[in-house]
Amino acid sequence: MGWAVTDSPAPSGLVLGIETSCDETGVALVENGRLVAEQLATQIDLHALFGGVVPELASREHLRLLPKLFNALMAQTGRKASEIDTVAVARGPGLLGSLLVGVSYAKGLALSIGARLVGVNHLHAHLLAAGLEQELVFPALGLLVSGGHTNIYFIEAPDRFTRLGRTLDDAAGEAFDKAAKRINLPYPGGRYIDQLGAEHLSVGKPDTKLFPRPYLDNDNLDFSFSGLKTAAVNHISSHPELILPTMSEPDQLAPEARAQLAATCAAFNWAVADTLRVKVERALEKVKKDQPETVRSLIVSGGVAANSMIRSSMGTVAREQGLKLVLPTPAMCTDNAAMTAHAGWLLAGRGYAHDLDLEAIPRGRKIPEDWVSTPEE
Ligand code: KG4
Ligand code: ZN
Repeated sequence: MGWAVTDSPAPSGLVLGIETSCDETGVALVENGRLVAEQLATQIDLHALFGGVVPELASREHLRLLPKLFNALMAQTGRKASEIDTVAVARGPGLLGSLLVGVSYAKGLALSIGARLVGVNHLHAHLLAAGLEQELVFPALGLLVSGGHTNIYFIEAPDRFTRLGRTLDDAAGEAFDKAAKRINLPYPGGRYIDQLGAEHLSVGKPDTKLFPRPYLDNDNLDFSFSGLKTAAVNHISSHPELILPTMSEPDQLAPEARAQLAATCAAFNWAVADTLRVKVERALEKVKKDQPETVRSLIVSGGVAANSMIRSSMGTVAREQGLKLVLPTPAMCTDNAAMTAHAGWLLAGRGYAHDLDLEAIPRGRKIPEDWVSTPEE
């Protein structure tokens, strides 16, 4: 028997989600598993000047923006802080200084209004995000592809994740962003590579020989995208006609140059999408062998899951394997507070809580199971 969100225990009232793990500052309210409202501010323009996120600036921006966004959310919804039953906060992984802003704000607020505090694993929140848009069914296989992570999970229930594979070096999003940076596309450039590649698909197939599909010649479920990143950067460097003269969107390119760039981007999209496809198929095979319960859905999330070629290739896998495909809408794939509030709602409703000792956990450290309250078995 799978666990479905409709089997969720009693709704846990009004949940505030706080997201400050990287360069998006967000607050959102979820009630009975439905999004009430969200306030989200991106810092992309600030960091784009530096070609990547500057952690010190990100923390300061979170500190400046968070109270403003919270007040705006309360004004927008006409709700009062005293009505919030649970404060859910992304406690990691992420940039430590940024996480500390959200976690400290959450603790202060929870203490002052007497609300339950729930620290949310940001990666789990990404994978559960689509639950705000459609029914999640478990057990699921989860693929998380973002700027910092490329992980595969077996997800038995919203509170039971087993990581089966991870990237040994760069995440898929890092490879997208560095390839885009070499072309001189604005940061973060994944979406431009996606759009350019899609243009090529209307005139031809992707070149499957141009870039390697990395780290497939092994029997594990890990990834390694650093070689593909270097291959793409080297290819672009040795073809200066693919490089934009100044950092800009590709609008200024002459049609011929644009077509050549689009073909390169299509080949890159394919190399990433097909690498993910192969490992997801192997993971499904392994899970079917190891687990008595059959997987019922394939969940794909994280910023890179907005990529159209990855979405379509995962659609094929799910169809072939008879699984429900769960893909959040592109806006729900990237960092947001709605997903944090939603994960908090699922956890609080099952009885999980933290106390004021809740720690922020930076990238690279395992998120501890340090609940002070857990479901009664
Ligand atoms: O999940 P996310 O918003 O932030 C974290 O890393 O946690 O993911 C951001 C990443 C960036 O690398 C960005 O370039 C990539 O997602 N991205 C895309 C697309 N949209 C966002 N990559 C490929 N195709 C896209 N359409
Ligand atoms: Zn994220």
